[in-house]
Amino acid sequence: MDKFVIEGGTPLTGTIAISGSKNAALPIIAAALMGDSPTTITNIPRLQDIYTFNNVLRVVGAKVDFNDSENQLVIDPTLVSYLEAPYDLVRKMRASFYMLGALVGKHGYAKVSLPGGCAWGPRPVDLHLKGLEAMGIHIDLDKGYVIAKAEKRLKPASFELKPSSVGATANLVLAAVLRSEEFTIHNAAKEPDVVQLCNFLNKMGADIEGIGTGTLTIKAVDNLQGIEFSNDPDRIELGTFMIAGAMHPESELTLTGCNPQHLGSFTNRLKETGAHIDIDGTTIHVKGPEKLNAVSITTKIYPGFPTDMQAQWATMMTQAEGDSKVTDTVYFDRFSYVPELTRLGAKMRLDKNTVHISGKTPLEGASVMSTDLRASVSLVLAAMVAENTTEVLRVYHLDRGYENLENKLNAVGAKIQRINGN
Ligand code: EPZ
Repeated sequence: MDKFVIEGGTPLTGTIAISGSKNAALPIIAAALMGDSPTTITNIPRLQDIYTFNNVLRVVGAKVDFNDSENQLVIDPTLVSYLEAPYDLVRKMRASFYMLGALVGKHGYAKVSLPGGCAWGPRPVDLHLKGLEAMGIHIDLDKGYVIAKAEKRLKPASFELKPSSVGATANLVLAAVLRSEEFTIHNAAKEPDVVQLCNFLNKMGADIEGIGTGTLTIKAVDNLQGIEFSNDPDRIELGTFMIAGAMHPESELTLTGCNPQHLGSFTNRLKETGAHIDIDGTTIHVKGPEKLNAVSITTKIYPGFPTDMQAQWATMMTQAEGDSKVTDTVYFDRFSYVPELTRLGAKMRLDKNTVHISGKTPLEGASVMSTDLRASVSLVLAAMVAENTTEVLRVYHLDRGYENLENKLNAVGAKIQRINGN
């Protein structure tokens, strides 16, 4: 398993191009299976999760060509015939569960493994299954697999998501676009990833109304056609690099190829820390402040502060003057980074789903363990401002969600060496 050896203490200065979004790409890759002809998607990041999902599509019979040097993916769904997504692939990447909505929506049958948990705890799919049943789809569970069967046309129905869920919203939309006479989702997720999926499907010929609101109404159409589409830039990668730029007083980063609107309330909170933020179209300039103000945050569904940014925020708060707290109301146990940052000298105390942070604390390099994608990138952020050398172990977590991370950061002054493990 590869590790990073990071020499800390140098400011970051220069330009970083933001890659295509992982979380926006995954549902539209599943949606491409709904077409009667091939789809081409550009701005697809070269990430392990994308390679894994491409293999899931190949298992069901789709022809998938990923020209990864061009970040372009061509999916031909016309030969799909095997309507099952196996455990050994779904357990590697829970978003494979989108195959359930896509296959049962397109073919009227799907057998998909229940996804495993993840590093920070259980990730239920009860809302996905209850919503599909509310739509009129028959759901059975058999030896860890979900078996879904649907008639050609399903009677009008509706379902309310409690709590709102990105994955469940996506799966229900995928299942409904070719099947339900009229399906309304209340308290639907409004994340940019869901908006993109709905726009993608409507471009294929679907009939989805209420896009961007908490109420989505889908009316079945008879068929969908393949399209050409450009994937959104990654808002979480963007937010991560904005925090990297804010964490050192001499750092100055220019981030290009962004969609600033996708950051929700994050940008204003970052400005409260004293970081200098300048938005110029699809380019964002970030300059670290002399002194970082301690700013507490609470995660919420979009457009609230994103849960995928809370670990990175808590890391930055170790360098802020004063006490702050980070509360996650989306995932109550997403704090596996706390004991690792503590090894670097951070003063953090976890109390249920809130971590209390005392700053400013100088960090000292040590060996730390990656546990999940966003916790791992937080260890890299900390290592870049820590004194001396930090080893970040099991960086395969990072390879799942950050394209070319060490090369992007080294190009702006970081000192990260990847040591290939066995
Ligand atoms: C998506 O996961 C993202 N993953 C996550 O990013 C992100 O953290 C999450 O949305 C929240 O924004 C992808 O897009 C691939 P949810 P998802 O369903 O869809 C509860 C990353 O780091 N819930 O919106 O699985 C759930 O427990 C990943 O890139 C149920 O109770 O998240 C959570 O508390 C990590 N029952 C809340 O809803 C269900 O059936 C929101 O989860 C489904 C969800």
